[in-house]
Order: sequence, then structure tokens, then C-alpha cells
Amino acid sequence: SARLTVPQFVARKSEGKKLSVLTAYDYPTARLVDEAGIDAILVGDTLSMVVQGHDSTIPVTLDEMIYHAKMVTRAVSQALVIVDMPFPSNLLGVHEAIRNAGRILKETGAQAVKLEGGADQAEVISGLVNAGIPVMAHIGLRPQLVHQMGGYKVQRDHERLMTDAQAASDAGAFSIVLECIPQEYAAEITKLIPIPTIGIGAGKSCDGQVLVLHDMLGLTSGHVPRFVKQYAHIRESITDAVRQYCEEVQSGDFPGPEHSFR
Ligand code: KIV
Ligand code: NA
Repeated sequence: SARLTVPQFVARKSEGKKLSVLTAYDYPTARLVDEAGIDAILVGDTLSMVVQGHDSTIPVTLDEMIYHAKMVTRAVSQALVIVDMPFPSNLLGVHEAIRNAGRILKETGAQAVKLEGGADQAEVISGLVNAGIPVMAHIGLRPQLVHQMGGYKVQRDHERLMTDAQAASDAGAFSIVLECIPQEYAAEITKLIPIPTIGIGAGKSCDGQVLVLHDMLGLTSGHVPRFVKQYAHIRESITDAVRQYCEEVQSGDFPGPEHSFR
């Protein structure tokens, strides 16, 4: 296959060509997203909420992330594949982080990992990078800190954001997700650091954007955050199709002769 490589992903910043990233968690969706021309697919720990139905990203396990990442890599021939390190797989020291990230690369065929953290994870980031494991950092809103934050809010601590971005970059991260921060701060970070910034709720100045696939397709039930643009309304399509099927089974219109054997 000719998947986009980490160095090619990074080079897009100096080429001034924006990066588009979406999540995917299984074979059929990863295949559609890849064939439509996405630059990178993130097997996000939003798997926990979007697919498993939990109310935070805390419950999903490393084994479950690996199980889903394998489905995704089987489908992908063009995109860079990045897998989230689930809580607390990157928080038990450099040694344990290398073991866990090593499993992700070894068992799934993904090319990189993402972890939540900036200055606090600098040692882990450089340890992984020294082990040959490309790392995408993730600062601003960090959903794995939900219990500490008591909810999901825009992150406005300018000094902390700048420190985290610089530390992640200095530690050797190849890229960084900026989640839910003022667009002016994202613009400043994007100018400051040499690696691509990938925004979600961080405005248009980032080097790229990422969204949760099910959110942008209109497949998520319940609250959808302000930063999501819904490009389709798949829930309605699915509901309509299922309703029609139920009706036609009742009425006997399905199956027709063209669906039957004699
Ligand atoms: O888990 C996830 O889907 C993410 C993206 C929203 C950045 O971390
Ligand atoms: Na995540």
C-alpha cells in the first residue's frame, strides 16, 4: 500500500496544504473515509462514547483500541493511521508507555499514536519518539481529564497552552491536536511551532482539522458540540430505511419475486 507517511504529513505544513483528519473505528467506515481521500484516520478513544455507548472516554481499554485499530488498518490504503493511547496507558511512565504504544504499532499496523498531554507528557513523548514511535500530542481540552475538570469546557489558559504546545514540539511530537481553545491562541501556536497543528474547536488557522466521523455525518444521537459541522444526516436515512423495511415485511411487499428463488 501507499499510505501517507508521517514525514509526508509533517511536510504539508511547509507546503501550506491543509490536512484533513477524521476518526474511524471499523472496516466499512474506514474504507469509505479512505476512498474519499482523507489524509489521516484517527482511531480515537471516542470509540468509548461513539461506538461503545459510554458517557466518557475513560472506560475503553487498550485491547479494545487495538481490536478496532486492526479493523481500520485492514481497510486503509491511502491515509496515515493514528491510534489514541487510552487512559491510562501513557500515564504509568516511559517504560510502560513504550510497551503499550509498541503493542499498538506491532499488532495493528498503524503508523503513529496520539496521547493527551503537553508539558506533563514531555518525557513520555521523547521516550516513545526515541523508540521509533511517532507521537501526536493533544492539548487544550483533554477529555480523559473529565473527572478533574467536571465537564467539557473551552480551555482559555493562554500561558499553559503555549507551554504545552512548545513542550510537545520540543519533545519530538510530529503533530499536535488543539481541542476547544480560542482561535486566536490556536493561530499563535500554529505560527510558533514547526509541527502541524490539527484543530477541533480551534478555528481556521490550524494546519489541519479533525472531527469525529459520527458527529459530522449526523449519526450521533443527543448533544453535538458547537465545533461540529454536520455534513450529512445519516440518522434520518437509517431510520427511514428501517421503517420502510418493517412496513414492507408487514405488508408482504418485501421480498418481491426479484429477491426470491424458484
Ligand atoms: O478520540 C478522538 O476522537 C479525538 C479527536 C476528537 C481529536 O481525540
Ligand atoms: Na481522543
